[in-house]
Amino acid sequence: MHKTKIFADKNLKIGAIDQNLYASFLEHLGRAVYGGIYEPGHPAADKDGFREDVISLIRELNVPLVRYPGGNFVSGYDWRDGIGPKAKRPRRLELAWASIESNEFGTDEFMKWCKKAGIAPMMAVNMGTGTPKDALELFEYCNHPSGTYYSDLRRQNGAEKPYGVKYWCIGNEMDGDWQICALDAERYGKKAMQTARMLRWADAKKVDEAGAVQLVVCGSCNCDMPTYPEWDRVVLENTYEEVNYLSMHRYYEYRPSSKDPLLDFLGSADNMGEFIDTVRATIRYVQAKLRSKHNVYISFDEWNIWTQSAPRTEPDWVQAPALLEDKYTFRDMLVFGGLLNTLINHCDVVKIACLAQLVNVIAPIMTQNGGGTVKQTTFYPFRYAAAYGRGEAVRSISDCALFDNRFGKARRINEAVTHNAAAREVCVFLCNYSESAEEVELELRSFGDLACKEFVSMHSADMGACNTFAAPEAVLPVQNEPVAVKGGGRADVRLQPMSWNFLRFRY
Ligand code: AHR
Repeated sequence: MHKTKIFADKNLKIGAIDQNLYASFLEHLGRAVYGGIYEPGHPAADKDGFREDVISLIRELNVPLVRYPGGNFVSGYDWRDGIGPKAKRPRRLELAWASIESNEFGTDEFMKWCKKAGIAPMMAVNMGTGTPKDALELFEYCNHPSGTYYSDLRRQNGAEKPYGVKYWCIGNEMDGDWQICALDAERYGKKAMQTARMLRWADAKKVDEAGAVQLVVCGSCNCDMPTYPEWDRVVLENTYEEVNYLSMHRYYEYRPSSKDPLLDFLGSADNMGEFIDTVRATIRYVQAKLRSKHNVYISFDEWNIWTQSAPRTEPDWVQAPALLEDKYTFRDMLVFGGLLNTLINHCDVVKIACLAQLVNVIAPIMTQNGGGTVKQTTFYPFRYAAAYGRGEAVRSISDCALFDNRFGKARRINEAVTHNAAAREVCVFLCNYSESAEEVELELRSFGDLACKEFVSMHSADMGACNTFAAPEAVLPVQNEPVAVKGGGRADVRLQPMSWNFLRFRY
């Protein structure tokens, strides 16, 4: 049997891992907010209606930052509908998801929830039906201390101090024809630039000044768009000097109808890496063309597995319908683990990544209205990566075999290596995409004397296994015997066929 050799050296750094690589996303969509994080009257809800059972699972995931309120929702949302006395808030037709929005939960509730959950907010502003002025006024409501109409309105609504929101997304997927009032690249680029300037003036800080707000401009909503990557170039040429991040979105899906469904799905992680490399190159191209010294990074603010081809079964025009409630299989978890590895391996340019989404809607956490919670299969790789994939990502060199799939070639063994100098830890995340068990030799000599503290894996003979309310622990991580570390920092690891694995070493 071929033994795969994976070499990693602490001096070959990819970059620092920003804690926001483990961010997430909550949209007014389905039961993400209503029945997800917010359910007044639920036995686990606090006086504000925030479900504490859900907050404790989110804390377990170590999520530092949450993007809100959309998503497609934001492009038709008037944020003013969601503030002030709840009894006076309007019920609206919500066009993005053909639902009813009661507006019972809005900006102030989100900020209060973030504070309670220990999470920083990332606000998206409406670039569909919304104007730069609407965005500015939301900014004033959130961030201006007092003495103006909107800042005093916030104080009147119970928040004396400004929220100090640092991250602002200027619209959502404005290239998609499903987006409310979608725009072409030139029009969006100009509107985004005007908006960015107004937010900068209100913030009274320059783009690269310490403490300045961080602005995210919309990149292509996926790499299958006919306008990709031209959209990204045009948008950046219009906005480059005023923004900090270009957004990327990408969802992968298991397609039983594809030529080789499993291999095509397993190719997703390496495909995501190629997508990031192209967007990185586009950013560098624009930077060079503009002779700019300013750096723009990537905010991969929607990523996940999502069976987008599943038909809607819920009726239109109801409040909080059960939409996009994907049940994540063991197979989904395998690809999900690979996507996390890709994000870690691109942490020099991807500084924010939001798992889309967090609760009930294509989410690692599921709830029942009035009932309990379930951790989906994908909960676990995310929890380990967010807890231990810290410090720096280190380049790894592997001689693993490749397989053909619909995107091209991909690695059978997909890894990420992180080094947390403060904790004196080296962590290795490995996905084995082979139908057979695989022997791997890790070569980590530069880290000095290592001892393996933990070897966790997820493996199942049933690729379709999921965690449900009836069987919440059908797929769980298993603790294995830690591996022995030999001379020269070498460790032999046996990977189960089709498995996700995590090894933690200390020096
Ligand atoms: O996350 C679900 C949807 O996916 C979001 O609303 C949208 O931005 C994307 O198309």
